[in-house]
Amino acid sequence: MEYVTLNNGVKMPILGYGVYKVNPAECERCVLDAVSAGYRFIDTAQAYYNEEGVGNAIMKCGIPRSELFLTTKVWISNAGYEKAKASIEESMRKLRTDYIDLLLIHQPFNDYYGTYRAMEEACRAGYIRAIGVSNFYPDRLIDLCRFVEVAPAVNQVETHVFHQQEDARIIMDRYHVQHESRGPFAEGRKDFFTNPVLNEIGEKHGKTAAQIALRYLIQRDVVVIPKSVHRERMEQNLDVFDFVLDDGDMQAIEALDEKESAFFSHYDPETVEFLTGFGR
Ligand SMILES: NC(=O)c1ccc[n+]([C@@H]2O[C@H](COP(=O)([O-])OP(=O)(O)OC[C@H]3O[C@@H](n4cnc5c(N)ncnc54)[C@H](OP(=O)(O)O)[C@@H]3O)[C@@H](O)[C@H]2O)c1
Repeated sequence: MEYVTLNNGVKMPILGYGVYKVNPAECERCVLDAVSAGYRFIDTAQAYYNEEGVGNAIMKCGIPRSELFLTTKVWISNAGYEKAKASIEESMRKLRTDYIDLLLIHQPFNDYYGTYRAMEEACRAGYIRAIGVSNFYPDRLIDLCRFVEVAPAVNQVETHVFHQQEDARIIMDRYHVQHESRGPFAEGRKDFFTNPVLNEIGEKHGKTAAQIALRYLIQRDVVVIPKSVHRERMEQNLDVFDFVLDDGDMQAIEALDEKESAFFSHYDPETVEFLTGFGR
């Protein structure tokens, strides 16, 4: 495994296992499979309703807690200092752990400053190792970085070969915020796995389109958290450290960038009304 070092010195694996849309009933089995395949970093969220499954798996997996890296995220409905504080305790109870490695604000809506203050406090108290944000695009990220005491360590944003986030990355680098990809395969949209460029490069290296897409992000120092409920794909997605994409490969994949979301825009009023609806 390769690691990135966050702005507070915490070491974070560059590749982990994401559990968005993993059915709560199946989550324990999936995380146990992932850990036995070699994953040591799990990304969940309050809004995924599967923190208990992750917690059960980390209790049963036989790997010391200190060798695992756990991320969860505070949801919009838990925004604000008091609610966020209580929700962090609830997340730790569900995750069956007395500390969280990385805690993120899930969305830049509702009272996220209040949320962030609760996270800073938890960080100072020693039960959160690093704090950060998700879906904070340059405007929100700059605003937050300017007015907080503990700088955000990570920003988890939609990033894949079709939406590479080069402009947002410039701002993340300026504020020493680690770029983490959410949805490294765009959830399979845009015929992701049959893309001719990814498959042609894959044939050259004896790898799949999925592995090429992950390797591309890793070579750009982006943390990736691919999701699969299938053990064989979990293994495949982890097997990306024994080859290197050359300059020609990197340029060909760079040219796939469409510079727009495969899902929705956080600036679209309809999207904002939909997401803020969870906070009412
Ligand atoms: N912060 C946020 O707002 C946010 C939003 C979205 C996601 N995330 C995080 O990012 C993680 C990853 O994103 P995601 O789950 O949305 O989607 P993703 O990882 O981009 O794609 C997952 C899809 O790809 C399929 N897949 C996985 N590996 C494959 C392979 N090797 N070959 C072919 N198909 C493969 C999976 O199918 P099977 O499962 O059937 O194998 C699933 O349909 C999430 O789990 C979550 O932790 C965060």
